[in-house]
Amino acid sequence: MVSDAENIMSNQATNENESVIEKSLRPQTLDDYIGQRKIKKELKVYITAAKSRSEALDHVLLYGPPGLGKTTLAMVVAHEMGVQIKTTSGPAIEKPGDLVALLNELQAGDILFIDEIHRLPKVVEEMLYSAMEDFYIDIVVGEGPTAHPVHFPLPPFTLIGATTRAGALSAPLRDRFGIVEHMAYYDSAELQQIILRSAGIFKISIEQTGAHELALRSRGTPRIANRLLKRVRDFAQVAKKPAIDHEIVVKALHLLQVDGKGLDEVDRKVLLTMINLYHGGPVGVKTIAANIGEEVDTIEEMYEPYLLQIGFLSRTSRGRVVTPAAYEHLGLNYESN
Ligand SMILES: Nc1ncnc2c1ncn2[C@@H]1O[C@H](COP(=O)(O)OP(=O)(O)OP(=O)(O)O)[C@@H](O)[C@H]1O
Ligand SMILES: [Mg+2]
Repeated sequence: MVSDAENIMSNQATNENESVIEKSLRPQTLDDYIGQRKIKKELKVYITAAKSRSEALDHVLLYGPPGLGKTTLAMVVAHEMGVQIKTTSGPAIEKPGDLVALLNELQAGDILFIDEIHRLPKVVEEMLYSAMEDFYIDIVVGEGPTAHPVHFPLPPFTLIGATTRAGALSAPLRDRFGIVEHMAYYDSAELQQIILRSAGIFKISIEQTGAHELALRSRGTPRIANRLLKRVRDFAQVAKKPAIDHEIVVKALHLLQVDGKGLDEVDRKVLLTMINLYHGGPVGVKTIAANIGEEVDTIEEMYEPYLLQIGFLSRTSRGRVVTPAAYEHLGLNYESN
């Protein structure tokens, strides 16, 4: 069974029902898309320019931690460009033929969205190079003596790639994206706005103080904010509260073991393992993962970035170090070594 804490943190929609909910919460336009101001400002310029030239938008790479709205933003861009979007993911495109089938369905200006683009098989990735750069692919048709190369022109299209790990992308692929945007964690004012917007869509009554407290505990991540909102709604209902207020948020999140900074059991395990077994570090991610029984990827993509962001971990050449701020948050004495 998946624990509540894992559910809240998990980096994908956890089930069918949740993906339906995520869809219903997705803003459609850049103006409705909250936060990421720098990215929005830039995209507005590129979209307006491409539209006025009646051209496809340049290829876009979106990278950043899970749940920050990369998929949502890709859909918003399609809406703003007034084009169709086909969505797939790196691991789903197993062989060149799968890519050809996808590209074959595109009309001029359409968007192909590839999530987890760092997980594309190498042969598929290499095929993308010419597709992205010059809008053609060369494929071999037939087998044995009848095999022959076919030059296959494509309509101009836009590839939007999303990844949680920009570093895992090969340089030739990365270089073919004209627009590269780093998605940042949201601040609490933006998250509060997202929570109020979602509450409106779900018809949940929530007070400003409740929304504010939830925002502080959502790890800068809209997906987590929306999840916590739904959990807290249940607590409020059982407690017969007419609206979600500060008190019920604090109570509910205490039960869910989400602390005042939005840290959960795993975050605390990471920090405490480093402190208790390694005097606060430096420790490598692999060692941390092995000690707490989590995957290295999970720690690297979901836990570490946020702990670095709020200044509870710092990076050194020999590994991660727990900062005095983290000791203080955990109620521990910091002894510098
Ligand atoms: N800027 C935003 N404004 C309002 N809601 C948002 C925003 N960004 C994300 N959301 C909401 O957060 C949820 C998760 O967003 P999304 O699926 O786009 O994240 P993601 O970055 O693609 O995550 P992953 O890396 O796991 O694929 C969605 O329900 C979406 O509606
Ligand atoms: Mg996504």
